[in-house]
This record gives sequence, C-alpha cells and structure tokens, in this order.
Amino acid sequence: MSKGKYYLTTPIYYVNAAPHIGTAYCTFSTDLIKRHKKQQGYHPVVLTTGSDEHGQKVERAAKAAGKTPEEYATTIANEFVRQWQTLGISYDHFIRTSDPKHFAVVRDLFERCEKNGYIYTGSYTGQYCFFDELYVIEAKPGDPCPDCGRPTETVTEENYFFKLSAFQEKLLDLYEREPKFVQPDTRRNELIAFVKQGLKDISITRTTIDWGIPAPVPGKHVFYVWFDALISYMSAVQGTDLWPADLHLIGKDILRFHAIYWPAFLMACELPLPKCVFATGWILVQESKMSKSRGNVVRPGPIAEVMGAGDELTGSDALRYFLWREIPFGQDGNFSYDALIDRYNADLANGIGNLASRTLTMIHQYFEGKVPASAGDPDIAASAVRTTDLVNDHFEDFDFTRGIEAVLAFVSQIDKFIVDRAPWKLVKARATDSEAEGTLSETLYTAAESLRLICGWLYPVMPTSMVKIWTQLGMDTALDSLLVDALVWGKLPAGQAIGKIQAVFPRIDAKPAIQKMQELEVIEIERQNALLGKKPDLPSDDKGSKPLSELISIDDFGKIDLRVGEVKSAERVKGADKLLHLTVDIGEQEPRTIVAGIALAYKPEQLIGRKVVIVANLQPRKLRGLTSQGMIVAASVDGGLPVLAGFGEDIPVGARLK
Ligand code: MSP
Repeated sequence: MSKGKYYLTTPIYYVNAAPHIGTAYCTFSTDLIKRHKKQQGYHPVVLTTGSDEHGQKVERAAKAAGKTPEEYATTIANEFVRQWQTLGISYDHFIRTSDPKHFAVVRDLFERCEKNGYIYTGSYTGQYCFFDELYVIEAKPGDPCPDCGRPTETVTEENYFFKLSAFQEKLLDLYEREPKFVQPDTRRNELIAFVKQGLKDISITRTTIDWGIPAPVPGKHVFYVWFDALISYMSAVQGTDLWPADLHLIGKDILRFHAIYWPAFLMACELPLPKCVFATGWILVQESKMSKSRGNVVRPGPIAEVMGAGDELTGSDALRYFLWREIPFGQDGNFSYDALIDRYNADLANGIGNLASRTLTMIHQYFEGKVPASAGDPDIAASAVRTTDLVNDHFEDFDFTRGIEAVLAFVSQIDKFIVDRAPWKLVKARATDSEAEGTLSETLYTAAESLRLICGWLYPVMPTSMVKIWTQLGMDTALDSLLVDALVWGKLPAGQAIGKIQAVFPRIDAKPAIQKMQELEVIEIERQNALLGKKPDLPSDDKGSKPLSELISIDDFGKIDLRVGEVKSAERVKGADKLLHLTVDIGEQEPRTIVAGIALAYKPEQLIGRKVVIVANLQPRKLRGLTSQGMIVAASVDGGLPVLAGFGEDIPVGARLK
C-alpha cells in the first residue's frame, strides 16, 4: 500500500556559475532520497530542481558575456539540465524562475501577504552586497560583506517591506512543535538562538534592478530574488496536490532563508509549511570551501568520465558513493582525487565488485550458470534481516554514511563466510560426498542472495552499478521499482539463469586516472568559461581584474629591487591553508625568510631548488608570527591560483632584474 506522496526539492541554482561537485552533492543527495522513498513505498515521489535566474549578478554577468539576461540564463539553465541528466539525476521538474507560470505564483503570494496585512511601504537605506544579493544588516558604509568579503554599497530604496518581525514567536513555536522541521540538530540550535535575538522586517521589492519579476504595485518594482526564488518550490508543482514539500534539501549557507523567511512568507499567506529543511555541510577541496577565487573548484563531469571509463553514469556512481561514504551527512568534508580512488578501490573494486564477480563466476562454473536451490545459511539470513533494518533506519535519518557502513559490514561477513566454506574445495569433494554438494549449494545460494540484497540496499546510492549487478544475477524485475518488502531473505529464485558476467567496478590505477581527470578538468573549465561568456586570458571587469595602474618613471621602477632567488626550504604554515614558509637564497650570507600565499598552488617539495623572483627591498612584515623579509613574485588569472614568475634560461642567484 502506498505511504502517500513525497515531494522533495534541491535548491534552485544560480545561473552565474556552472555545476560543480558542491552543487552536484546536494542534487545527488535528493536523488538518493527519492530512490529510497520510492523503495519504502511512497507514491508518487517527486523531485524538483531548477535555476535561480533573476537579480543583479545575472544581469551583470549577461552584460559581460554580451547577451541578454534571458539568453544568458537559458544557456546556463540548459547546462544544468544537461549535466544532471549525464550524471543520472532522476528529477521530475526543472523550474526556471523566468518561467511565466512562476511569475503568477509569486504575485499571488505577494497579494496574499498584502491582503493579510504583512506588507507595507517604507524607505530603506542600508549596506548591500550585490554579489550575495543581500543587505548586510549590521554593516556601516565601507564595511565588507561578512560572507564574501567584497565591499558593500550604500543603497537607499523606497520599497515594499514584509513584516518578518511579526513571525518571531510563531517561528520559535514551529521549531519547538516540529523538532524535525530543521535538521540536523546543530543547525536547529543555531537557528533558534539567531531567531531569539529578534527579527527585523525585510524589504522584498527592489527598484534598482531590472531583471526580476515585476511586482503588482505602482512604480518600477521587481521582487527581491529570495522572495522570488523560494516560491519556485511551489510553482514547480502548481496545479498538483503535492504541496507542501516533504523536504527541502539545501546547503547550510542558505538555511536562514529557508527556515525563517520561507515559513514566515507561507504563514503570512496561510499556506501549509514544508515538513523539513535539511542543511548539508560543504564539500571542501584542500580543506577550503570551493570558490573561483581560491581556484579549487572541482567539476563532476571529468570524474564521472574517468571513474566510469567513458560511461558517465557508472562513474557518477563512484563519486556519489565516495561523498556519502566519506562525509557524514550534515557535516563538512574534504574531496580529493586520491581519496576518491582509494575508497573506490578498497570498497567497490576489492569489496562489492569482487564479491559479485567471484560469486557469479562460481555459479557459472559449478552450477552451469543457474542459481542453486537452498534456503541459504541461517546466520547470514539473520544478519541480512538486521542489515535491511539498519539501512532503512539510517537512510530514513539521512545518515547515509552509517547506512553504507552497515552494508560494508555485511559484505565483509559474506567474504569471510565464502573463505571459511571454501567452495573451491567443496566442488572437488561433491562427486563422492553428497553433503559437500548440499554445502556448496547453500554457500553459493547464500552469496547470490546476499548480492541481490546488496543491490537493493545500495540502489539509491549507486543506481547504475547496482542495476548492472542485478542484471548479471539474472533478475527479470526492474530494480528501480523494487519495494522494501522484497528486501527479505530467500526471494532469489532457485534455478534462475545468471546473465553475462562483467566486472562492474574494475580496479583503477590512481596515477594515470588522476592525471586524466586533471587534464579533462582543464578542458571542462574552458568549456564552462565559454558558456559563461568568460575569457580567462582576456581580463574583463567581471573578473575583478584592475585597469592598468598609473604610469611611473624609470626612477620609480628603479626603487624596486627584484632579485633572483633559489628556494632552499619550504614548509606549510600551521593553521593557514594558503601560506608557505620559505627560505630563499638571494646571494646574501643567510637565506631570507619569506612567507608566501602560494600553498594552494604549490606543494612545499615542488619548490626546493626552484629559481624565483623576490622583491628584496620590501619592508619586512609579520605574518602568523613569522617575519617575512620580502615577497615572491607571482601572477594569477581571474582570481585563480598564483603562478610563480621564473626564468627560461639559467641565471645566478642574487642577479638583479632590470
Ligand atoms: N539560488 C540560491 C538558492 C535558492 S533556493 C530557493 C543559491 N544557489 S547556489 O547555486 O549558490 O547554491 C545552491 C546550493 O549549492 C546551496 O545549497 C549551496 O549550499 C550548495 N553548494 C554550493 N557550494 C557547495 C559546496 N562546496 N558544498 C556543498 N554544497 C554547496 O544559493
């Protein structure tokens, strides 16, 4: 019997950046939950994703790319659609905020808020961060944005305000009454503490922006992007009975919008509230949040291509598996190519993949490719029942890491069981020993039935790969419509002919695979830059590159003493992910100490013996307790990683650059 509908959403993604593994993480996770809920018997299970297209940032980016905002947004929205499809995301609706059906819903909600007395006009002056599209409430003129560090701008607007302050108590009641409304608990506690400090009204229209949804009011007002964006969750399923959403899965950076503004808007409209907002942590690369300026953004396409040896759906499974296996859901966690391949080889190639191929090969060799008849080993059967419960419970609690761990523990148990039973010995004894025949049948039935269950448990995690094993087991039902009732012991039919055996997780050699992913990443960056209208080697305003500085005289230049130096030692500076502590010989008695912000681009060992350019007469300055006696010269494009200046031919240490 159906457990009822389940409607879940990803955030809608800004169209001024292309997908990366951070946005893919959120999207993969909703896909996992969708598949899990279907398996649990919810029907229909509907997943919405989409693109957040309005606002100043998109207006600016489109202009820089020489396109209209509509053209620009369409290009990037199509890129999201293409990537999600390539990565195997089973979404049902892709909502674009430029869709006219969405306009109508936004206006309707505004009018409901107005009718209920929660809208008023007022004048607002504040510091605004155009990059993050938000007013920085406590900022004074000249202060930077606390989120992105960019300067805020003073803005005064006559606009429409939403009485958020009227909802403080109602929101606190909601968090109290529905403890699962905000998850995980750490985020819920932070949120409650924040709301208790008091909520100020927010302005929800803008007159300074053209690219937005016109508000149904006199004058030239468009809706504030977050009022517009949040409502997309409703417009995506307008005309159905799917609202309210059962889950909004988001990143922790946008929790306040979802757990304060959104329920307040809905309460003001007297509309039902979503059941749960779950905030994930961040995927970090080199221990930092991915960002263009750090140059540490990793894209999913090259990973999927290499890990799946050209089959992106299979490769996408490897990335999905890694992210949930490695990072407890809700917390931040690090991604690296090395760790990805280590996990893949340990758990998938040596673990599940190996179990599948040896089990199927033995059935092929010892039973002419037909599943032997047996009830299976009772201890393993009991353990399988427990594993089904564990996986279901952990997945239900969004604890994917522990759900996967439960499956891996079961895999180890089966591996040990097979080794203990040694079917390769039983097969030799079967001609003369009838007990051996029975034990052999029981052993391989147990292994094959275990494989069937593993496919069911891990299908939400790795749908493509699990279907491959399922098919090799000869199953004639569709794994994507398997329900939890079928995840009980003994459902594998005896006599079933197994399919063609093929390695599902072949071992991957780390060095060439990483090199290939890095090469493809460079191509992917260029492709995405072209889509975004960015030309990495031609500075444009959009990249924050500065116009050429004022002219100086040769005497001015002569004041700068640039020297050839050789790096003698290099080590990381504790507690500073960007800094390296170098000693550099520039021909003086002692090498100089130089503290350089190049740790994201260079490993210490790469630098020893390298000739570099040093500004030798810069006033010493203290950084993290070290006195830097000069500066190393490097260039960077588009705010990316620094590249050290060097020499094509040899030149002695201490030589002056002129
Ligand atoms: N457009 C808004 C969301 C509006 S929803 C009504 C937005 N877009 S975004 O493209 O910037 O980010 C979308 C989501 O991706 C956010 O939840 C954000 O947390 C998530 N991530 C972006 N980078 C991420 C990581 N490095 N790691 C994990 N999630 C990350 O915000």
